[in-house]
Amino acid sequence: MSNQLEPLADPGVPVATVRRADIDPIAAKRAERQVALLFSLSGLGTLLFIYSFFFIKDNVFIFLPVLGNTNAHQLGIGIGMAAGLFFIGVGLVHWAKTLMPNTPAVQERKELRSTDADRDGLVATAKEGVATAGLGRRPLIKASLAGAAALAGLPAVIMLRDLGPLPGNSLNETNWKSGTKLVTDPGDRPIKASDLEVGAVAQVLPELLPGQKRTLEDIGKDAVLLIRLRPAEFQLDAERLSWTHEGIIAFSKICSHMGCAVALYEQTTKHLLCPCHQSTFDVTRAAKVIFGPSARPLPQLAITVDGDGNLIAKQPFSEAVGPSFWERSS
Ligand code: FES
Repeated sequence: MSNQLEPLADPGVPVATVRRADIDPIAAKRAERQVALLFSLSGLGTLLFIYSFFFIKDNVFIFLPVLGNTNAHQLGIGIGMAAGLFFIGVGLVHWAKTLMPNTPAVQERKELRSTDADRDGLVATAKEGVATAGLGRRPLIKASLAGAAALAGLPAVIMLRDLGPLPGNSLNETNWKSGTKLVTDPGDRPIKASDLEVGAVAQVLPELLPGQKRTLEDIGKDAVLLIRLRPAEFQLDAERLSWTHEGIIAFSKICSHMGCAVALYEQTTKHLLCPCHQSTFDVTRAAKVIFGPSARPLPQLAITVDGDGNLIAKQPFSEAVGPSFWERSS
């Protein structure tokens, strides 16, 4: 038995079939209307998506056999988007199968980079293809395809709205203002310097004003750690030292790497440790990063006391708390 492989036989060029629409103008017109109908259904699907997105409330439910109680908002969005994409695809396939030229095209294989003449030829052929596809002669298809294609891109743009409102300046601000009382978390009790012994740590939040409610988002930005050292242990410049009170220093508890809670304090080394990726901050040196991926120290909150001896913020944070974001200036 020979090991030589037999060359594959040339399959030849498929024979062009003559379709009904190629010889019968009435069939061609019918196919044209069918294509236009499919594109129109696509457009209606997209309009259903838009209507459901904006005008059907997300708490409206309707009963459907088999599915039971179904959220009308989500159902409309789903059916609308599916119909918008499905019918435009089916319309294109139907158009290609019934009306577009059906004759085989042969191109000899050449070296990979075409000559300039071939490239110009390709452009000319493409233009000719567009002309042959009959767009010029079939204004109904042209108009309905243009409408469906223009609408089909809208859902992607509209869904950007679900990303929520723009953050504005909210990432730069917290609820700490000049004079805001520090209150215990949990408990919401004002805290005095004498409540903290040397070596102690406490988590505090800004005092709520009457009628104000605390949201998780607030806590995620406002949480502050108080740590009491001996004043002589600080290695701070004059300004940062003036932000402390009787050895008590306050830092944002939100890690400057990716926003975890910096929850571990090592009393002997005076280090704060973030459990997520082990960023380590030196409390004696204004939370300077001494290990880990964090690029910035924890922001320090300037504190003092009011007339009753309660700890209060001297001023808001001088920089944004938490991880980096694009518009951050520091
Ligand atoms: S979030 Fe703190 S080290 Fe990564």
